[in-house]
Amino acid sequence: MIEYDFDDNMLNASAKRWYDVREQLTKTFGPNLDCIEIGSWEGRSAVYIADSIMGDGKLTLIDLGVKMKTLYKNLQQHPKNKNFEFLFGDSFDILSKLTDKKEAYHFIFIDGSKYSCDNLYTLLVAERLLKKGGFIIVDDYRWNRNIEKNEKNTPKLGVDLFLKTTLLCEPYDLTGYQAIIMKTKDNKSIKVNNTI
Ligand SMILES: C[S@@+](CC[C@H](N)C(=O)[O-])C[C@H]1O[C@@H](n2cnc3c(N)ncnc32)[C@H](O)[C@@H]1O
Repeated sequence: MIEYDFDDNMLNASAKRWYDVREQLTKTFGPNLDCIEIGSWEGRSAVYIADSIMGDGKLTLIDLGVKMKTLYKNLQQHPKNKNFEFLFGDSFDILSKLTDKKEAYHFIFIDGSKYSCDNLYTLLVAERLLKKGGFIIVDDYRWNRNIEKNEKNTPKLGVDLFLKTTLLCEPYDLTGYQAIIMKTKDNKSIKVNNTI
């Protein structure tokens, strides 16, 4: 029996929305989906993505690696452990190295740095990596961080600024704790003459 070592479990509250996203994705792309997760900690959400979203696709995990030992221990036990790729380091650096993988992914989950500016940057890179019809979920969109009154310390400002500026994505569901965003246009729709 698999015995994961996780400190808590909070994705259950969003399960219905994730199910809906999986339905949309499989309608467009079929059952096997290539995914990125930014912020993996001990692997709890990675297991969730492996079980509920990716089918027999691939999951690339990006994290600073603070809990690297537990993350490996948990994910080695997973039946799809050959489908995981680990990239350790600051997502700011790692994402900038993935830019040759444009429109290669179907699903991206963002749960790394909580700074607004990091979420904005991550989204701007993520949308170019995603295929048209793909989805991004940003965790903690509605995080009410009482001890921090500065909105720059939570994701929402970054997500809202991204949605104001993006030419490729639309909000899909912003009513829950997590922001769900869909890519509705392909990268080619950004023209070099700077008009839309
Ligand atoms: C909230 S935890 C992720 C929890 C995980 N998604 C889950 O639900 O099981 C945030 C993670 O983001 C990582 N992180 C924070 N800032 C980061 C950065 N700049 N680059 C890469 N990872 C980062 C931390 O190391 C931590 O593991």
